[in-house]
Amino acid sequence: MLVKVHAASLNAADLETLRGVFIVRVAAPFRPMYKILGSDVAGRVEAVGRNVKQFQPGDEVWGDLSFPHGLGAFAEYVCVSENALAPKPASMTFEEAATYPQAAIVALQSLRDKGQIQPGQKVLINGAGGGMGTFAVQLAKYFGAEVTGVDSTRKLDMLRSIGADRVIDYTREDYTKSGQRYDLILDVAAYRSVFDYGRALSPEGIFMMVGGSLATLLQVVFLGALISRIGNKRIGLNTWEPNKKEDLALLAELFKAGKVVPVIDKRYRLSEVPEALRYLEAGHVQGKLVITM
Ligand SMILES: NC(=O)c1ccc[n+]([C@@H]2O[C@H](COP(=O)([O-])OP(=O)(O)OC[C@H]3O[C@@H](n4cnc5c(N)ncnc54)[C@H](OP(=O)(O)O)[C@@H]3O)[C@@H](O)[C@H]2O)c1
Repeated sequence: MLVKVHAASLNAADLETLRGVFIVRVAAPFRPMYKILGSDVAGRVEAVGRNVKQFQPGDEVWGDLSFPHGLGAFAEYVCVSENALAPKPASMTFEEAATYPQAAIVALQSLRDKGQIQPGQKVLINGAGGGMGTFAVQLAKYFGAEVTGVDSTRKLDMLRSIGADRVIDYTREDYTKSGQRYDLILDVAAYRSVFDYGRALSPEGIFMMVGGSLATLLQVVFLGALISRIGNKRIGLNTWEPNKKEDLALLAELFKAGKVVPVIDKRYRLSEVPEALRYLEAGHVQGKLVITM
């Protein structure tokens, strides 16, 4: 389908693809895999090929164009398989819709599916003030958890405003050393050792790494599997099934009910994508950055 892009949003993964972090270089060792970045998109279908079944020109759509769909949302038009997209909820603007597909889906599936989140549990989100974290905090509250959000000083008021029961400033306190135990930890900025994370878990707690350093990733994959086998704590990676239709529908419902809403820090025009990427790289973004056409 040919889609006219009305809005796109930035994810840390765009920056990691641009910079060519280790995982990206393994997948594409000789040259960048994608010419145009941008995975989260909201727009309108302009034209469809003859095998397209679910959409017709004029339909409003949203979705995540990350692998295997080829990215390309930072453009006026993108050509994409219909499987990457779903009908955009009428209650959302294009800008709002563009913030959800990757960040909110990863947060939802990680907390609910692998994290098996339960009402009353103590849940900690590390990196809570960024794109994914702001959705994770609100989703954990929706599931009835007692939520602690960890991020840098200037994001703490915003975290309280979106429902965090407790906040921790990571520039002043290491949550793995406070003596507090959590039933579920979702960490989008994991840079410590798996033993530190194990210490911060309750006896049957679950730690999930979503983002962070390669050193921590390797520990989580190898040592985490061992720790999970010999004890009741579980340390591993999150789950992610992009564009799952039921999950997008749930997020649309939660948006309509005002339970999970996007935190938009700034909007940029398409010509300002480099500036937006620089702002993201400098840190301190609260929630999401949106590109409007
Ligand atoms: N595994 C998967 O399936 C999957 C899928 C998609 C994305 N991801 C990954 O998810 C990660 C997060 O994405 P995102 O878009 O939410 O990033 P983001 O918007 O940049 O948010 C990251 C947040 O973490 C904070 N932070 C940085 N260092 C920290 C530390 N040491 N302790 C606590 N918080 C810290 C940042 O705050 P300050 O800047 O103020 O320090 C920022 O608020 C990326 O690495 C991405 O690759 C994983």
